[in-house]
Amino acid sequence: MIEGTKILVVDDNPEVINILGDFLELNGCEIYEATCGSEALEMLKKKDVEIVILDVQLPDINGITLIDTIKVSKPTTAVIMATGYYDPNFVIDAMKKGASDFLLKPFEFDKLMLVMMRVLRERNLLIEKENIMQNLGDKKKIEHLNRELQKKIKELTTMYHISNKFNSINIFEDVYEKMIQIVGETLDVTSCGYYVPDGEGNELILYAGHTRDGSKPERNWQRISIPDDLKEEARGARRYVVKDNRIYLPLFIQGEPIGFIMTESKLNGGGVAKSLENDVFFLRLIAEKASTQIENRMLYESLFENILHTLKSLIIAITKRDLYTEGHCKRVTNMSLALGERLGISDYEKDVIKVVCPVHDLGKIGIPDKILLKPERLSDEEYTVMQSHSVYGEEIMSRFEILAKEAKIIRHHHERYDGKGYPDHLAGDDIPICSRIIAVCDAYDAMVTDRPYRKAMAVGEITSEIMRCGGSQFDPAIAQAFADLIRDGYEW
Ligand SMILES: [Fe+2]
Repeated sequence: MIEGTKILVVDDNPEVINILGDFLELNGCEIYEATCGSEALEMLKKKDVEIVILDVQLPDINGITLIDTIKVSKPTTAVIMATGYYDPNFVIDAMKKGASDFLLKPFEFDKLMLVMMRVLRERNLLIEKENIMQNLGDKKKIEHLNRELQKKIKELTTMYHISNKFNSINIFEDVYEKMIQIVGETLDVTSCGYYVPDGEGNELILYAGHTRDGSKPERNWQRISIPDDLKEEARGARRYVVKDNRIYLPLFIQGEPIGFIMTESKLNGGGVAKSLENDVFFLRLIAEKASTQIENRMLYESLFENILHTLKSLIIAITKRDLYTEGHCKRVTNMSLALGERLGISDYEKDVIKVVCPVHDLGKIGIPDKILLKPERLSDEEYTVMQSHSVYGEEIMSRFEILAKEAKIIRHHHERYDGKGYPDHLAGDDIPICSRIIAVCDAYDAMVTDRPYRKAMAVGEITSEIMRCGGSQFDPAIAQAFADLIRDGYEW
């Protein structure tokens, strides 16, 4: 029942303490004693007291004042007031301060036991409630942290997806279009677009648009007015404008705004502003990624242009020696592109042809004049030297690391479909498709042109010859496509 309860008896009369203490100790309680208020407070600091039986009249501190101090420092400690006379106002005052009950002296031990048990039960409930509140508080804290954590995970996952999508954009794709597609797929927007200024600074013109349902952007989306504060904000620190349900965010290339991303969201009550601000975070990330990719591409393209310029100057050096090469390279390029188009090659392969074809005989720069310019047929020995131009061409081109694939096309432009070509005797589909296309066009151009050792052949005659060699020298499908191209009236 009350065994083991730690009780502090505070009374200025030692006799009262003794009587009360003896009785409670007989009932298994642990008793502490104090004869004044300050002694009681000292004892409370040292001992983990559960109940204080507190005399109202103390020599130093008033019992009512002491309740306040006890309740502040030990809120779960129950206080039972003890007094020699009953004063209802005093009782109400004590109860308001947090006293649990009231006992009249001299103590009736039966009543004391009942009060003790009730107070203990109340105290246990209070402790339980405190624990629940504490747990509830902890639970709320954990739930809040969990929500924050989930938000962070979602944010990081989205950032990861954005980076991944940008990394997977290939060189032939339009970065602005892909950027808007990523905006549409990442954010909860009804529509979005990339806009460029109209040149007069009044309106923005749609360059690429994306709608959630995949429909075409509406007509009034094609041209939109520039919000008044957009131009100033674009150059300011904030660098974006949120207006109604739209966000306008400029795209910067080398520090200059070159266009704007605009998104439109559905208005759904009070959370919109917060949601739009959240969208701005991801929009800025997307815009930064797009800018970096465009800047890298500009850098790559200027580097690429420089390399091509160098290679073309080498070709010019060859054409100064061998006039046939001059027009030949241009013609083979145009025809290879037309043939490639007919064969349905990829945009990438078309670009490879554009780069490789004009310089496919680059290696001839290493062939001595007496062989390159010899009007008569070449001897076997001379022919072997002449053949080395495909390997030499590859060697020159592979010095530019970014042209490694293109260098291989040059190496194999004299392979034969049956494996009897040079330099590696590759056969069939092992020969890169661009090399197989160039081989057909190269042969056609050689036959259609007057050479010192033979006259040009007629077009029909050449077509028959190429068809005849389909499956041996040439890829039969490419030979057929070539014949179709000529039949359809292809002109140089
Ligand atoms: Fe060649």
